[in-house]
Amino acid sequence: MKEINFITQNRGKVAELRVTAKQFDLKINHIDASYPELQADTLEDVVRYGLAYCQNKFPAPFIIEDSGLFVDALRGFPGPFSSYVYRTIGNSGLVKLVGDGAPARFKSLIGSYYNDFKLFHGQVKGRIVASRGRSGFGFDPIFERDGRTFGEITIDEKNAISHRSKAAELFVKWATTVI
Ligand code: IMP
Repeated sequence: MKEINFITQNRGKVAELRVTAKQFDLKINHIDASYPELQADTLEDVVRYGLAYCQNKFPAPFIIEDSGLFVDALRGFPGPFSSYVYRTIGNSGLVKLVGDGAPARFKSLIGSYYNDFKLFHGQVKGRIVASRGRSGFGFDPIFERDGRTFGEITIDEKNAISHRSKAAELFVKWATTVI
C-alpha cells in the first residue's frame, strides 16, 4: 500500500483525511509535530512557507494542511487568522461578532512535497449560527450547511461535503498516480 506522512498536531484533520485516503488505498501516517505557521494574508503563503520549512526535516512524501473560516461580510476574515480568533474569542465570540446566519465558507489547502511542492484546494459554503452539536472540532458547531451544523453530523457525513475532503480527494487522486 502507498503511504504518505501528514505533519500536523490536529488529530481531527488526520481522521478526516484517512476517510478519503482509505477509499483509494493510500495510508496516512500521522507525524505529530509542529512547524512555524506564518501569519499571512493567504492560505497559500502559510502553506508554501510550511512546506519549505518541513522539506529537510521530515521524510517525503509528506503533506501539511492549512484551513480557515472565511466570513463573506468580513471580506474573508478570520481566514488565515482563524486559529488566533478561535483561541481568543472562540465560537461564541465569533457568532456575536458576525451575527446569527452570516454567510461564510470553510477553505482547506493541502500542500504536498514529493519531488516538488503541490497545492490542492477545497471549500464549502454555509452560514454561522449559534453553537449546536458536539462532534468535529474547532468551528464545526457554529457552521451550518443544509440545516445542520458540522457539530451535528458524523465524520462520514462531514467528509461527504467538507472543504478538507474536497482538497483531500484532489490530493489523493494525484498521489495514487505519482507515488
Ligand atoms: P489551522 O488550519 O490548524 O491553522 O486551523 C485554522 C482554524 O480553523 C482552527 O481554529 C481550526 O479549529 C479551524 N478549522 C479548520 N478546519 C476546520 C474544520 O473543518 N472545522 C472546524 N474548524 C476548522
